[in-house]
Amino acid sequence: HARITASVYSSHVPAIGAAIDLGKTGEPYWQPLFAGFEPTKQWMRENLPDVVFLVYNDHATNFDLSVIPTFAIGTAAEFEPADEGYGPRPVPKVMGHPELASHIAQSVIQQDFDLTIVNELKVDHGLTVPMNLMFGSPAQWPCRVIPLHVNVVQYPVPSGGRCFALGQAIRRAIESFDEPLKVQIWGTGGMSHQLQGPRAGLINREWDNRFLDRLIADPEDLAEMPHIEYVREAGSEGIELVMWLIARGAMADVAGGPAPRLAHRFFHVPASNTAVGHLILEN
Ligand code: DHB
Ligand code: FE
Repeated sequence: HARITASVYSSHVPAIGAAIDLGKTGEPYWQPLFAGFEPTKQWMRENLPDVVFLVYNDHATNFDLSVIPTFAIGTAAEFEPADEGYGPRPVPKVMGHPELASHIAQSVIQQDFDLTIVNELKVDHGLTVPMNLMFGSPAQWPCRVIPLHVNVVQYPVPSGGRCFALGQAIRRAIESFDEPLKVQIWGTGGMSHQLQGPRAGLINREWDNRFLDRLIADPEDLAEMPHIEYVREAGSEGIELVMWLIARGAMADVAGGPAPRLAHRFFHVPASNTAVGHLILEN
């Protein structure tokens, strides 16, 4: 059977992708950020999964206001990088896992979560930037990826509690797949940032670090946090953090297993307008 070996959490910021693509990662502004992901790249080489189940959000790139799926699973064989205004990023195309993705869709929908099935999907910085942070810039990505898009852009967005429960359903789905695959689940987006309005530029280090503490130690309680707290404390785009609860809900301890091991924790302010948080939790 397939099993979830670890969950990985990371912010995404388009400027991180631009820094990589323009060869600026060694500049003083960027060096401390990329340094925080050096242990991660080493850990990934030692703990390479067969498949990453990658929870992320599209930013009106593939889905615009004409269609707004709350949860959408990418079932295609491959996913091209999207053009977000400066041409597609020069990163490899993302190879999917249609068999496992179809199985997860079947299992999770039968557990009463209405996933939208997406057979054609272009992936934006929400997916490609975390890929670069974890794997660097190889000629081909080292494993398959199943994208799960969550609507955190256009209200109404799903609650933290529903995301946490979806993570539990995804765990049951993955563990009932009849091939011995090592699967990681990633939760991406966040942490505090606000890109618009009078509070543009908002960062809340204390709240973000408390979120990391609680995500590690008491995710059930954290999942109860209402939207208004995310938006008030972490800014309008801080709501992206509900996606981290999907990954956390898929960990063994939530289903009565042992507590995860914290393999890496990193926090850095700022990258563009965003507080960057990152965790690796091993099952
Ligand atoms: C920024 C952060 C985001 O999450 C995003 O989607 C776009 C921009 C930023 O900090 O610039
Ligand atoms: Fe974003």
